[in-house]
Amino acid sequence: MPDHYAVVGNPVAHSQSPRIHALFAEQTGEDIRYDRLEAPLEGFADRVRTFFDQGGHGLNVTVPFKQEAWQLADFRTPRAEHAGAVNTLIRHADGRLEGDNTDGVGLVRDLINNHDVLIRGRRVLILGAGGAVRGILLPLVEQAPLELVIANRTLSRAEGLLPLCHGVTRDALAFDDLAAEHPFDLVINGTSAGLDGGMPPLPDGLLSADAAVQEMAYGADGSAFRDWARDQGASRTIDGLGMLVEQAAESFFLWRGVRPRTAPVIEELRADLG
Ligand code: ATR
Repeated sequence: MPDHYAVVGNPVAHSQSPRIHALFAEQTGEDIRYDRLEAPLEGFADRVRTFFDQGGHGLNVTVPFKQEAWQLADFRTPRAEHAGAVNTLIRHADGRLEGDNTDGVGLVRDLINNHDVLIRGRRVLILGAGGAVRGILLPLVEQAPLELVIANRTLSRAEGLLPLCHGVTRDALAFDDLAAEHPFDLVINGTSAGLDGGMPPLPDGLLSADAAVQEMAYGADGSAFRDWARDQGASRTIDGLGMLVEQAAESFFLWRGVRPRTAPVIEELRADLG
């Protein structure tokens, strides 16, 4: 019988994870089954326990349960501890659940490996200060950017994340303050403004001559933020599809000990999305 994995969320019908992991399994010859699991909003822990009691091997966790998964894990990796959120649960032989977070490493690998974007020594601006942004800070800091600036609609939330950026020059700003900033080499949009077709209010002149922008969300639809970045002369405008596949590849590696190639999977999903 194949080893059993799933992605748990609510809603979860839209999740691309089953498709991604099926492509990884096909590519690597790993014998796995990977399903979607919708947990009731008040019943996450029970759903997870039942899955593992029935012999499940590992779970990916998506909205809105990543913080609950963090609490449920018996122990956590340093990067999950730091993120305050868990997107990967691994069942160990003794039955204990390890919680990890592969979102940040997924984002960094997509930028560096798939888009040749340098983070080390560059000025990096992050837009947003919610759970998604918190999850990527440690892997970004580990790349040693010259400076990390977090801008958010609610300034206090951006300020609250600064202690998590220990070791690099860092600052928290409101969007209005951005007009006075020097240009940035990399701008990462981690706000959820795009869900309503919007984007944070950004001034002209925010991007350096060779700047890249990265959006954490993905989808076939256009994006106001990436349109804005192209108008502003960004050299690369990147959506979140590569990050999605890279974080999945890291989960697959944690579970199976095999690292799948991501480029053909990104290409196939891109084609699916039209
Ligand atoms: P997630 O887990 O996706 O990060 P979240 O914790 O609700 O979700 O955070 C959403 C982020 O998008 C926040 O930074 C939010 O700004 P506030 O902290 O001020 O709420 C930001 N955001 C949402 N809608 C926005 C909009 N229309 N313009 C700018 N920022 C927006």
